[in-house]
Amino acid sequence: MAALLTIAGLSKQFGGRAAVQGMDMELHQGVITALVGPNGAGKTTLFNMVTGNLMPDAGQVSLEGRSITGMAPHRVARLGIARSFQDLRLFTHMTVRDNVLASIESRAWFWQPGAGKARRDAAEAALERTGLLPLANARAVDLSYAEAKFLSLARILATGSRIWLLDEPASGLDLSSRSRFTALLRGAVADGVTICLIEHNLDVVTEISDRIAFLDQGCKLAEGEPAEIMQNPALRAIYFGERRG
Ligand SMILES: Nc1ncnc2c1ncn2[C@@H]1O[C@H](COP(=O)(O)OP(=O)(O)O)[C@@H](O)[C@H]1O
Ligand SMILES: [Mg+2]
Repeated sequence: MAALLTIAGLSKQFGGRAAVQGMDMELHQGVITALVGPNGAGKTTLFNMVTGNLMPDAGQVSLEGRSITGMAPHRVARLGIARSFQDLRLFTHMTVRDNVLASIESRAWFWQPGAGKARRDAAEAALERTGLLPLANARAVDLSYAEAKFLSLARILATGSRIWLLDEPASGLDLSSRSRFTALLRGAVADGVTICLIEHNLDVVTEISDRIAFLDQGCKLAEGEPAEIMQNPALRAIYFGERRG
């Protein structure tokens, strides 16, 4: 099966130091891929290059065979690639509902006719699915940590994007929120969404991902099925070794 998103030879340096070097990766329709690796491995930088937040020094990103390399973030978003940030980047003083509406508006073409009701419906549906409907009128700043994480997912869900890039979406979630989170991702995949997530908790990774790519110092050291990657002693040593932190 052809890849939905293809990353080829993607590289980025900061001040002469390689953050990502010659990265190759494919995301396939309906597959949940986890990016695992120590802090500073280049995971977020990789996302930033796919979403147009950072211009790669070399390499290509293509969506269904069409290059999107270096495209502006709003154009990438309109092609159906959505992302969340480690620091969430919510509009903290807006309501939960308005946060979701804003994520839809930012992707919509302003001239789309009669889209107002459709957008409001999409926002309500996303709030419902993330369990945030009772908090729709609360301000984002007043949400708990877990609720804020679900709001960042609701913002993505509402856009109808087909590729989700999630930067540490489950970090710090308690067990019950985590199982709601897992169910939400599985539901999205059942609806045809393709997901790549950065995750530190190996229990979460094992539970949710179909594939794991292991990154260290800007390179992909291994990629495969969770059981295979998790059992690799060399990777475990890197992951649990001194460089983590
Ligand atoms: N905007 C930036 N400017 C300078 N260095 C950066 C920037 N973003 C990331 N880096 C560096 O690139 C490397 C990879 O960072 P990052 O992609 O954030 O890693 P990860 O998400 O895997 O923890 C790190 O050494 C980090 O300090
Ligand atoms: Mg990161």
